[in-house]
Amino acid sequence: MTDAKETVEIKRGLKGVYFERSATTFIDGRAGELRYRGYSIHDLAEHSTFEETAYLLLNGELPTAGELNEFDQRLKAARQLPTPLFDIIRAVRDAHPMDVLRTAVSALSAFDPDVADNSAASTLDKGVRLTSQVPMIVGAHHRIRNGLEPVPASPTLGHAANFLYMLKGEPPSDDAAKLMDTDMILHAEHGSNASSFTARVVASTDANLHAAITAAIGALSGPAHGGAAENVMKMALEVGDAANAAEYVKRKRGNREPVMGFGHRVYRAEDPRARHMRAGVEKLSKEMGQPQWYEILQAIVEAMRPYSRHGVNVNVDFYAGVVYHLHGIPEDLFVPIFAVGRVPGWTIQVVEQMANNILIRPLTHYNGPGPRAYVPLNDRI
Ligand SMILES: CC(C)(COP(=O)(O)OP(=O)(O)OC[C@H]1O[C@@H](n2cnc3c(N)ncnc32)[C@H](O)[C@@H]1OP(=O)(O)O)[C@@H](O)C(=O)NCCC(=O)NCCS
Repeated sequence: MTDAKETVEIKRGLKGVYFERSATTFIDGRAGELRYRGYSIHDLAEHSTFEETAYLLLNGELPTAGELNEFDQRLKAARQLPTPLFDIIRAVRDAHPMDVLRTAVSALSAFDPDVADNSAASTLDKGVRLTSQVPMIVGAHHRIRNGLEPVPASPTLGHAANFLYMLKGEPPSDDAAKLMDTDMILHAEHGSNASSFTARVVASTDANLHAAITAAIGALSGPAHGGAAENVMKMALEVGDAANAAEYVKRKRGNREPVMGFGHRVYRAEDPRARHMRAGVEKLSKEMGQPQWYEILQAIVEAMRPYSRHGVNVNVDFYAGVVYHLHGIPEDLFVPIFAVGRVPGWTIQVVEQMANNILIRPLTHYNGPGPRAYVPLNDRI
């Protein structure tokens, strides 16, 4: 949009604006390509683990076996929450889990001895600690709000399996753990999305990692960003049967409402992360004798086909919600699961920002009233 009088070009929503360089994530929205540190998301989803991918994101290279083992030990050793944090979680137990998570991560800053140390080494260490602590908060809150005691972290389970264990109180099947692990790999990092940009804005003021991640959690909680998976499941329940999908989409588009799990600021082709969760939904819904979920989702995709020409395709969240549902995870935990996977991504974005920092402070173009004389209160009518 260009203002005729002053030739100010306004890029609403910062669409298409490059504000920095990053060596972490490559996205080609037209081709539907995503790479972390040069490695295709497909290779990582199929062959890597969350731990290995987190190491890659934080350190720039895939680890050797020894390095991976050492990193895994650090993650496991960091599976601890300060005792007062459980009281804080109890005090806000009835809030949405994202609000609880934001509050608890903010509170963790009071207990981290290195909170104010913004060196790269310390920020990476804190990122490792938060990677382990965020799933513990989500798990502990879920137990507490259901009147149950939090489950102590397992000293042996992998990251994804331990998260499911802390949520449910029993170790997950290998298949369930693998699917959650893949989900976390897919969500680990995604360039300058709204929450990572938020984290960078906060870091650009020389604030610390806890402040940046607290703010990022706030940004992620909205339905245009992390909340989509929750809304996709609500949509699937509302549609109820594949035969109703076309009518549902017609009604939504008639009201000019977005269909959840479709569209993306960057991708014009299908979000490359979607196919891995689609495969998960197909397998899981058949195995669990609930094939209707896969059928409903595919019928919605079919009904949305005309919009694909205009670059509106499924995104990663379209299939993720049904996977969580089939695992018996309630809808309000879908966004927190996204957050659990995203901590390494937020951390590395903050580290990059701090390494070459500049205050992020764009402009708004004033279009309010011109200069006016101040009228004393008693003279106003
Ligand atoms: C993600 C999202 C906010 C991106 O928004 P954006 O980059 O600002 O894109 P726009 O809203 O400008 O959309 C561009 C066009 O595609 C259409 N469109 C975008 N998302 C759509 C959706 N989910 N369903 C139907 N049409 C959609 C818009 O109506 C618009 O059409 P128009 O030019 O005729 O008005 C948006 O696609 C959306 O709300 N999606 C649903 C929520 C979701 O799944 N979010 C998770 C993202 S990972």
